[in-house]
Amino acid sequence: MTTDRYEAALPEGARPRVVLGVAGGIAAYKACELLRRLTESGHDVTVVPTAAALEFVGAPTWSALSGKPVSAQVWDRVHEVPHVKIGQEADLVVVAPATADLMAKAAHGIADDLLTNTLLTARCPVVLAPAMHTEMWEHPATVANVATLRERGVLVLEPADGRLTGKDTGKGRLPDPVEIFDLCREVLTRGRTPADLTGRHVVVSAGGTREYLDPVRFLGNRSSGLQGYALARAAAARGARVTLVAANTALTDPAGVDVVRVETTAQLREAVVAAAREADAVVMAAAPADYRPTSVSRAKIKKAEDGSSPTIELEQNPDILKEISQHRLREGAVIVGFAAETGDDTGSVLDLGRAKLARKGCDLLVVNDVSGGAVFGSPDNAAVILSTQGDTVEVPRGSKAQLAHVIWDLVVAGLAR
Ligand code: CTP
Repeated sequence: MTTDRYEAALPEGARPRVVLGVAGGIAAYKACELLRRLTESGHDVTVVPTAAALEFVGAPTWSALSGKPVSAQVWDRVHEVPHVKIGQEADLVVVAPATADLMAKAAHGIADDLLTNTLLTARCPVVLAPAMHTEMWEHPATVANVATLRERGVLVLEPADGRLTGKDTGKGRLPDPVEIFDLCREVLTRGRTPADLTGRHVVVSAGGTREYLDPVRFLGNRSSGLQGYALARAAAARGARVTLVAANTALTDPAGVDVVRVETTAQLREAVVAAAREADAVVMAAAPADYRPTSVSRAKIKKAEDGSSPTIELEQNPDILKEISQHRLREGAVIVGFAAETGDDTGSVLDLGRAKLARKGCDLLVVNDVSGGAVFGSPDNAAVILSTQGDTVEVPRGSKAQLAHVIWDLVVAGLAR
């Protein structure tokens, strides 16, 4: 949740005006949850369904949940000129689900109902959360329409992978409504600031890897993945295509983000290196285990009857950050590392951070002081970001979303150099 950053950005008492467009897909029922989240957190929501959406969920539901009259067409309350006014007055338009048909109309400027009229008059940020069968999403017509809309600055989210309407599975699911809600808040916070990662592909790693001793035991660490997820969510809200490589996290997939799940450092390395080949930026927020047992028992290891203790022999894992920084898989890409430091006899947290920046060879290093375990699982974070140019940016304690945006600001600046 990005509450403090979001609330700080809004004038006191402001109720952001959100238009929730709903197109005719079975996922329309999930938009009820999104609507509920928006109204309960103080947004003034006008629901604009299409006629087909009303076949799935009726007007009384939208009206009761939004506290406003609901219409799909332009002929109701004509004296209020709703086909122009609703779009003009909005701070955000979000369409969930957005069908292939709705996106085709939007891409071609067709305005044959209230929602498509609203999309033509809106000057605020527009988020489309598509949901459809994989074949429709992959159809060249849809691909071209999505590209056109993105070029015009519309934030078209990647659909999620998973179970579709029937028994089939694939890409085309509506992202989790709670995650669409979080993304909407991120976009509202940025207001009319351009989505400066549009057209960029970024890779974020998150979570902590596990190195198995046997089928039930592993060596792991305390990373929750929250900072990596905040980075992925923030990048998606800024228009990026995001690949999130998630190691053993128990968090909902952020809306519009491709999630690759891994367990071990070797798997994390494979996934990050593969995605980094065509990435404009890689942010290594994961905590990969530095060592793994030299052998993994196929059967559960039994306790020794004679009371003796086992010795676990370890070998070193690859250093992914160092590898991608040294080999530079894509020219001009910005590579960001994290350093969780406590400081010791050899130096302060910052001394160790500077030494690590040089050792790893990345462009930016986000240094966390983890003395006392303050960061793990916490919604907050504070950091100092070091750059190879010798710059130091201090980020005071705030939400992980806030830190994520400062990191992306620096990445955007690095990409422009
Ligand atoms: N990292 C990595 N591969 C590893 C270990 C770490 O890519 N095998 C990345 C982390 O994702 C992080 C950065 O390197 O972005 C720093 O991680 P850290 O554990 O602090 O670095 P280490 O090199 O393991 O240094 P230390 O000796 O301080 O643990």
